[in-house]
Amino acid sequence: MAESPFVGRSLTAIRDFNRQERLYLYRLTRRLKEALAAGDSAAIDHFRINDPDFGMYEIFLEDSTRTRESFKNAGLFHRIKLSELNAASSSFNKKESYADTIANLVGYGNRVFVLRTALEGVCRHLAERTARYTERHGMTGGVSFLNAGDGRHEHPTQELLDEFTFLEDLDWSAERIHLALVGDLYHGRTVHSKVHGLDLFSEVLVDLVAPPELAMPRNYVRAMEDQGFTVREFPSIRAYLDGAQAGRRAGARGVRAGAADGSHDAEPGVAPQWYFTRPQLERMGDRILRRADELRSAITFTPDLVSEVDPATRFYHPLPRHREYPTIPAELDDTPLNAWERQSANGYLVRVVLLALVAGHLGDDYDGPVGAEYLPDEPYAEEVPVAAGTPKRYSEGVRPISDGLVVDHICRGDTPEEIRRHVATVQEVVGLHGRGGEWVSTGRNGEAKGILFRPGFGPLTQRHIGMLAATVPGATINVIEHGAVRRKIRLVSPRRIFGISALRCRNPACITNPDHGEPVLPRFVRTGPDRYACEYCSHDHGFKELFS
Ligand code: CP
Repeated sequence: MAESPFVGRSLTAIRDFNRQERLYLYRLTRRLKEALAAGDSAAIDHFRINDPDFGMYEIFLEDSTRTRESFKNAGLFHRIKLSELNAASSSFNKKESYADTIANLVGYGNRVFVLRTALEGVCRHLAERTARYTERHGMTGGVSFLNAGDGRHEHPTQELLDEFTFLEDLDWSAERIHLALVGDLYHGRTVHSKVHGLDLFSEVLVDLVAPPELAMPRNYVRAMEDQGFTVREFPSIRAYLDGAQAGRRAGARGVRAGAADGSHDAEPGVAPQWYFTRPQLERMGDRILRRADELRSAITFTPDLVSEVDPATRFYHPLPRHREYPTIPAELDDTPLNAWERQSANGYLVRVVLLALVAGHLGDDYDGPVGAEYLPDEPYAEEVPVAAGTPKRYSEGVRPISDGLVVDHICRGDTPEEIRRHVATVQEVVGLHGRGGEWVSTGRNGEAKGILFRPGFGPLTQRHIGMLAATVPGATINVIEHGAVRRKIRLVSPRRIFGISALRCRNPACITNPDHGEPVLPRFVRTGPDRYACEYCSHDHGFKELFS
């Protein structure tokens, strides 16, 4: 029998499982749900790992009910070895690192770790570090890290159960979704997971309903638009209902309804599926807290609004609801809007199937693409032919340069102050110390650029070229020999930037932040012109912010 391609896999962010893999997981979950409803014990047993030596560990450094308990119940279903680390009395208090802690627990035969942390990117870090541990000890089969929510970053197993429930309400069609995201879109990690999770659907229309103080971070909005999602924004539920009113006649259909000819309306109206998130105003300081009532009211669906939405509309919520200030009041529990209770119950089923997959118990019949759909690396340096005839000569002031390096066109178009600052950083990062100087020159068109001269520098290695591409993309490296330019290399922004000790993620909650004392350097992936996201926590950076 072929080995399951899911065995030992981690789910650190929703993109770790590609679209086909997630659809496969949902097909299995649907089968499990039907088997349970029918009481078909043979079909139910098919899903069970049934191995008392297979170890799953829960490590919750933040509070949880649903995620921790549904995983625990899923573990009990599977009849596997279940453990929970008492983090409050563990050697975390003696400054033991995450990687060391986990290495010990892997040594005790545990294969799945479910972690909730305030630090972001922990699971990705642990998946990488533990792979080295298992290799050192000749262990096979892999160790899985399932992110049960990391700070403001992601909650990918919640995303799985959300997507499963959306599909259930769309008659299992992944063709199109029109979803309103309502609430605290700034802090809510469950909505951040939707930025890439909703790529499950071929056509996506997202309505973001939140006052500016709680709005979705711009980099996430850009990422949705870059994937072809249609995104609309509204500052409150009232504004949403009013603003989308114009298209309501034609557009606001029930979840299962659609135009008879399969077409979609130009004006989509109000979404038939609404996803609420809990306001986390306590994280936002006194100024915001003074306006708490006003902000909560903008994202609370009061019972008098029921008549303004289509009766087939469904509401979802990752829960918990605040018992004093619920954004979906308890009066709505007995209405057809209530999909959040079924959504929560689905969390248990989805996690049963996820555990069966990463344990290698299920999945051997999956025949789609495997793994994350990350873009491949691409060239970051282009060798430019040196002009025929007399090669160009460079002088530093009045002195011609005989041998060495000239990096030209640095930060073209920035202000002279910005250029000087960045050139100083580049020298530190790349280690271009030594003789020579740095200039800012201004062209006839008034545009400034930096030039860095290093007479005597050499030889130029591939590592230097990579570091310069990472630090001064758009610049040109000139290699001078015997007084003339012999090589010219044009640099472009690399897709990924990593392996440079001066790299810093600016997110204080990122696992790579040196304040946390975990020995891990950040890596960055390009998300747009001059923009990079940390591969651990997804925090968005302007290019020049990447270096300490
Ligand atoms: N939905 C969710 O993550 O709930 P808990 O915080 O209770 O786990």
